Amino acid sequence: MELNSLAIISHEFKMPIATIRGGVEVLRRYLIVGRIDEIDTATYMKSMQRNCNILARLTSNLIALSQKELSAIYMDYSCVDFCKLIEDLIKTAKETLEASKINYIKKIEEAYIVCDIEKIEKVFFNLISNTVRYAGKDAEIEIIIQSNDSVLEVIYSDNGPGIPKELSEKIFEPFVRINNESTNVVSGSGLGLAIVRKFMNLHNGEVKLTTDTGEGCVFNLKFPLDDQNDLSFTQNAPTNRDLNATAEIEFSTIL
Ligand SMILES: Nc1ncnc2c1ncn2[C@@H]1O[C@H](COP(=O)(O)OP(=O)(O)O)[C@@H](O)[C@H]1O
Ligand SMILES: [Mg+2]
Repeated sequence: MELNSLAIISHEFKMPIATIRGGVEVLRRYLIVGRIDEIDTATYMKSMQRNCNILARLTSNLIALSQKELSAIYMDYSCVDFCKLIEDLIKTAKETLEASKINYIKKIEEAYIVCDIEKIEKVFFNLISNTVRYAGKDAEIEIIIQSNDSVLEVIYSDNGPGIPKELSEKIFEPFVRINNESTNVVSGSGLGLAIVRKFMNLHNGEVKLTTDTGEGCVFNLKFPLDDQNDLSFTQNAPTNRDLNATAEIEFSTIL
């Protein structure tokens, strides 16, 4: 790891730790003096929980990115209707972020694929959280799903400030961020898109930044459908997964 990356990541750890530490100290003092009302407790608890989520997200991203070998990463496969998976995660994102400008266009009825559901959720929550952070809460997102015999394709686009064409490959590397006035005000570690690419690769898929109009971002995500022979042997999607908990962690920096 380069020194500069270490500096970025240490900085990202510092803020949430300071907030949690401050919260614990306030609660401790109030408890000793015996003057604590419920509102204060709830506010401090909420802030500490949010900051724990920020740390949880940061560490799990670092762990995933530090594995060189894709085979070293555990995949929890199940067989799901991809359209339903996307619908569910859009619904949760809208509820969690109170943002409603996600336009979903489905060009196919259903598409059963074998995937690690939680990783797919993280892919899209990362893209959505970037749009909200860099393009603002009122930004519009469009998600199109289409497929042919061999590829399932998702086109994700937003109407924010966009990413310069010359960075369309480099932006997927860890710690790479854009240096300009509009994006610099948002803090971040540059790990999100690296996670998106890694998790797509884990599905033998790919992600590309394909913006060509110079406005907003367009991400093209592809999943191969022809290496899904073991589909019938795979377990069905677990029914008890907690999508809200995943969203709270993935959106922790903007909640
Ligand atoms: N939807 C978007 N619109 C504009 N810029 C974006 C968008 N998504 C990502 N970026 C730019 O790409 C950089 C890398 O994104 P990412 O890897 O998610 O890291 P982070 O969000 O932590 O900075 C961001 O710092 C930002 O400059
Ligand atoms: Mg990000």
